[in-house]
Amino acid sequence: MKLAVVGKGGVGKTLISGTLARLLARDGYKVLAIDVDPSMNLAYSIGVPADVAAKIVPLSEDHDLIEERTGARPGSSGAVFSMTPTVFDIAEKYGVPGPDGIRLLVMGTVRSGGSGCMCPTNALAKALMRHLLVSVKEAVVMDMEAGLEHLGRGTVRGVDVMLCVVEPRMQSIETAKRIKDLSTDLGVKAVLVVANKVKRDEDLTLIERALVGSGMPIIASVPYDESMEQADMSRIAPLDYAPNSPAVKAVDTLKSGIISRYS
Ligand SMILES: Nc1ncnc2c1ncn2[C@@H]1O[C@H](COP(=O)(O)OP(=O)(O)OP(=O)(O)O)[C@@H](O)[C@H]1O
Ligand SMILES: [Mg+2]
Repeated sequence: MKLAVVGKGGVGKTLISGTLARLLARDGYKVLAIDVDPSMNLAYSIGVPADVAAKIVPLSEDHDLIEERTGARPGSSGAVFSMTPTVFDIAEKYGVPGPDGIRLLVMGTVRSGGSGCMCPTNALAKALMRHLLVSVKEAVVMDMEAGLEHLGRGTVRGVDVMLCVVEPRMQSIETAKRIKDLSTDLGVKAVLVVANKVKRDEDLTLIERALVGSGMPIIASVPYDESMEQADMSRIAPLDYAPNSPAVKAVDTLKSGIISRYS
């Protein structure tokens, strides 16, 4: 299965992607985690050792790779290049190892200059997301950039599920609804909501009410949990910092929910 974790800025996408990736891996899945956010925090959330993380070269900065695969260097104007580069070996070759057998690929910054405009970097990113082969007991978990602007780049085309993280604030719920509208055009089969930073029952009720008729079921509710902030401050993966915390347990329930729906 291919999952993309989306939502407004700061709602908890990276925490949920990294923890979910680890828990799927512990469940026997071969997991490829892809950081598609230019701020590149997924390595910490997964718990990739700092010395390994420090050496990661984001694919978008690997101009030799992009040229090798597309036939053009990023920034070269007027070049005719291959829009469907070969990507099947990229995860193996360029992914870095993380705990529980995860591989992590870091995309870095992918831009597209308006509708129809393509660049070799974007072509590689798009092809990677679309053509990665995923078989039984394999999972791709993508931590996406905040908001919806990036959806126009087409990098989520071909994902099975978008997990849209919301917190009990109307702005994040509005963002979720706009993401849902766009997802249909992008061919995404399902958008499921993860309610995060839930402090009290009323928070969940607020989210449930706001989502009535949206076509986005709530698949899990993750409580607000101070140990997640502490994990973040100490730059330790939430799963390693507080394995028995309520938030990590809730992500485990999310994992089970996804597995029972999609395998
Ligand atoms: N359930 C939770 N309880 C408490 N704090 C949380 C919870 N989930 C996330 N946080 C905290 O919220 C902050 C933002 O989380 P995270 O970085 O995962 O969000 P994001 O959506 O990836 O943000 P960005 O849009 O900047 O990439 C972090 O400090 C994180 O520790
Ligand atoms: Mg993030």
